[in-house]
Amino acid sequence: MHLLDTAETFRDISKREIKKVPALRGRTVINLFFEASTRTRTSFEIAAKRLSADAVNISVSTSSVSKGETLLDTARNLQAMSPDCIVIRHSSAGAPYHLARACSAAIVNAGDGAHEHPTQALLDALTIREHKGRLQGLKVAIIGDILHSRVARSNIYLLSKLGATVSVAGPGTLVPAEFAGLIEQGVRLERRIEDAVVDADVVMILRMQRERQTDAFFPSMREYAVHYGLHLNHLSLAAPDAIVMHPGPMNRGIEISSEVADGGRSLILDQVTNGVAVRMAVLYLLAGTPSDVDEDRGSSPTVREGSTDSSRAAGGVRGRTRKTKRGTRN
Ligand code: CP
Repeated sequence: MHLLDTAETFRDISKREIKKVPALRGRTVINLFFEASTRTRTSFEIAAKRLSADAVNISVSTSSVSKGETLLDTARNLQAMSPDCIVIRHSSAGAPYHLARACSAAIVNAGDGAHEHPTQALLDALTIREHKGRLQGLKVAIIGDILHSRVARSNIYLLSKLGATVSVAGPGTLVPAEFAGLIEQGVRLERRIEDAVVDADVVMILRMQRERQTDAFFPSMREYAVHYGLHLNHLSLAAPDAIVMHPGPMNRGIEISSEVADGGRSLILDQVTNGVAVRMAVLYLLAGTPSDVDEDRGSSPTVREGSTDSSRAAGGVRGRTRKTKRGTRN
């Protein structure tokens, strides 16, 4: 909740003419992406820059990983240049944890294989709270390729922790029975999209992740679209004020129709907007000095434009140097 409250405060910065505060001036954030990304990578870079941090982007094709360097050696070499934070996306589950053990910089998981995508779940939670005013007691239906989805896992953990009831739906091959026991309270499993959507406050559609599918999980994309694609008629089963979400990238006409994706209930682009705010909050809380973060714990940073005395995040770190080496954080 502290992360969400902090992100809410940062959201206003993106609405200003001058979209920048000096909260992380002098800090360095490295984006290390081993997989393709549009939203996450760009929003982490924008977030770092709006906080005045120096942002460095490394892509695998232009790094020495393409010459055979190991992930650990890459991490050690990056650490030798004293970054404050490394944001990593990798196709292997656990890669961020692997880095966190080798680096003293804060490590942020920007998606690791089919494991987790924590900042996506945080931005989803922020978007739901913005539009519903709460998370507690909401019914959230997550539909699609649950088996290969790091977004589904992180949302199941986060939204149920924050009091929502989560049900997941998809073909049996992509929604295995073990998902029902993923959290203590249990996740409801539905086979039909219609059953999952009934009375749902939030309908979250996931992408068919063909790049991670090693098997024939369903006969054809056309058949999947017929049985599990979200169409306008499904929304008549949901709560009257139900909202539709998708983490992107979307496969229009497969898991979601264009009518729904571009319709009045769709918050897909709001999710992207909130991604910048959430990532600003994450970078601020991890790469700010411990004293800044301790001061701000329990109250969100104030980031009023032009303010120096009332703005801890905007002005509080000005002129300070970091005295202690922080331990690894993931
Ligand atoms: N939602 C998401 O992670 O999108 P990208 O793959 O474009 O970063």
